Amino acid sequence: MKTKIIKIDKDNIERKKIEEITRAFSDGKLVVIPTETVYGLGANGLDEEACKNIFKAKGRPADNPLILHIAENSQLDELVSEIPELAKKCIDEFWPGPITMIFKRSDKIPNVVTAGLDTVAIRMPSHEIARAILKDCKLPIAAPSANLSGRPSPTAFKHVKEDLDGKVDIIVDGGVTNVGIESTVIDMTSNPPMILRPGGITYEDLKKIIPDVAVDNTTIDASDHAIPKSPGQKYRHYAPIADAYCFTGNLDGVVKEVNKRLKENSDKKVAVLATTETKDDYNGAYIVIDLGSRENMQEIAHNLFDALRKCDEEEVDLIYAEGFDFRGIGAGIMNRLLKACGGKLVLGL
Ligand code: TXA
Ligand code: MG
Repeated sequence: MKTKIIKIDKDNIERKKIEEITRAFSDGKLVVIPTETVYGLGANGLDEEACKNIFKAKGRPADNPLILHIAENSQLDELVSEIPELAKKCIDEFWPGPITMIFKRSDKIPNVVTAGLDTVAIRMPSHEIARAILKDCKLPIAAPSANLSGRPSPTAFKHVKEDLDGKVDIIVDGGVTNVGIESTVIDMTSNPPMILRPGGITYEDLKKIIPDVAVDNTTIDASDHAIPKSPGQKYRHYAPIADAYCFTGNLDGVVKEVNKRLKENSDKKVAVLATTETKDDYNGAYIVIDLGSRENMQEIAHNLFDALRKCDEEEVDLIYAEGFDFRGIGAGIMNRLLKACGGKLVLGL
């Protein structure tokens, strides 16, 4: 398949390009669109065949349900059977924005979207281009992250091109995404609601609206072998090709432990995922990637997936990543890092 690239400037969105994308969605085509979190591989969420093609293009397991993306609250009515009071509050507070809510589904949604579950995941992205498209097409757009299954989510057009060129009808080039990790997923059907995937809207943000908000422990605890409540979380996502380790604890101890291991593995190509504060402290690494300053965790989230892809590009044998506090967006960063490491956490003393 020949993939068409449509470049859109978010500050000067051309109407005719949006209309072309709307037509493509109505015709059952696959279109990759930028959102504020990561790029999404979209199709008309009410078109069963089109949604099946999403799974094919990504190589996604059929038991992993999709998120429906909408532009207006009114679209919820035909998609869900019930909107709990706390969900209404979260919608008012956080939409449009990087949070996906799980509702009881309506019969209108094809089973392929929900992977046969009786619930459905819905989010309203805030990205200007995503919003322009969703408003124009007035369809719920099913869109998982636009990476091949198992690869880090795409935060730049070039990542999407690497993974999906020739596999989708259109890729919208909207530059780099903002948040850098995927949306928070929260199950609004449980009491109290439970965070199934930490992301752009943090536990601390949610606690203000839902004081007793629960967290699925498997999202932050690598030693917890329970089955995650969100089907997608059980897969080793965001997996770089190299063997990866995450180092936590006192930062001086982390640097010391990583340097010790760099020495022991001097015959290997090792990438260190460091921070601005520590990037000059490592000796003998093949490549040291600066994720950004520890003072600015948003920046670290923004750079994380690009750094993991860079490790693949450089074909390193080993990745040593500095860890972060589980506070704020740090919980989302650590969730992704631990997945990249397959749970291998080292305490630097
Ligand atoms: O930021 C994002 O959420 C991006 C952009 C494109 O919107 N999308 C994204 O989609 O990350 P995806 O498919 O890569 O991740 C969706 C996650 C998966 O872990 C999936 O299992 C979970 O949401 N999910 C979807 N429907 C669910 C449901 N009914 N119950 C529990 N988890 C669900
Ligand atoms: Mg994904």
